[in-house]
Amino acid sequence: MSPAPKKKPATTKASAKTEAADGIRPLEGKVVIVTGGNSGIGEGIVREAAAQGAKVVIDYVSHPEATDAIIADIEKAGGEAVGCEADVSKVADLQKLVDTAVKEFGRLDVMVNNAGVEFGETLESLTEEKYDLLMNINLKGAVFGSKLAAEQMRIQGDGGVIINITSTHEDWPMPSDLAYCVSKGGMRMLTRTAGVELGPDHIRMIGVGPGAINTPINADDTPEETKALEAAIPLGYIGSPEEMGKIVCWAASDQASYITATTVMADGGLMQKPGAV
Ligand SMILES: NC(=O)c1ccc[n+]([C@@H]2O[C@H](COP(=O)([O-])OP(=O)(O)OC[C@H]3O[C@@H](n4cnc5c(N)ncnc54)[C@H](O)[C@@H]3O)[C@@H](O)[C@H]2O)c1
Repeated sequence: MSPAPKKKPATTKASAKTEAADGIRPLEGKVVIVTGGNSGIGEGIVREAAAQGAKVVIDYVSHPEATDAIIADIEKAGGEAVGCEADVSKVADLQKLVDTAVKEFGRLDVMVNNAGVEFGETLESLTEEKYDLLMNINLKGAVFGSKLAAEQMRIQGDGGVIINITSTHEDWPMPSDLAYCVSKGGMRMLTRTAGVELGPDHIRMIGVGPGAINTPINADDTPEETKALEAAIPLGYIGSPEEMGKIVCWAASDQASYITATTVMADGGLMQKPGAV
């Protein structure tokens, strides 16, 4: 008989503050852009990066008040962050993000391609319009976000880190969500291919692949679906944006200096459980 699922350990915002208070600030002085940074996993990354001493550019396309509230919290804690409205599906907007980092904070050290959307469409139901919309945000946004960030990092000449928020679905089929899986599979190969290309410039590229995380993207899940998912996760609970923030900031820090061109899965063991979903 398998043991009962363990309760989620106490982590999150409070411990992020403790870490900073203890003087462990691996991202001190680093300039970080987070796309889709005012909700969910992006917000978790923004808050943790700021707690670790980074200066953060928060990209957003909606809810400017949410961006303002995050900035207020960061500034109250003595950190630095600015908001920048930019649609990642447009290359000109991605350039605006990089320009904002340079104008406000002088450089760019870490680019986090996090913005993403998900529509439940099969091959049969998918339309050209929905395919283009999703691919332009999830994959084109990550490709050109990486390209422009790498250009700036090359000018600076002292390396950098690009993190792509992929998914278990970079590997794992989800038959109800074809375009999403195609986009995350594309991000997998972006990470590997560009990671190899950027190695000589000491620019690391890492995918972070969340499993099931408690964010607005999963707001439509029924209580039954959530329960089934929890039962399928070896660690026994759905992950939090704060946990993702810590993992991404670790990947972006010098502590992960020998990792590039691959994905770190952050899924509570979900992918390794036979017949999980
Ligand atoms: N929550 C999960 O279970 C889970 C699992 C695996 C991967 N992910 C990935 O994590 C990332 C963040 O998702 P989330 O779960 O935090 O959900 P979320 O909906 O809170 O985050 C997505 C963010 O992307 C932003 N966005 C959408 N279109 C944009 C555009 N054109 N330009 C800029 N920003 C745009 C949204 O405004 C939002 O802030 C996504 O890439 C998602 O695929 C999430």
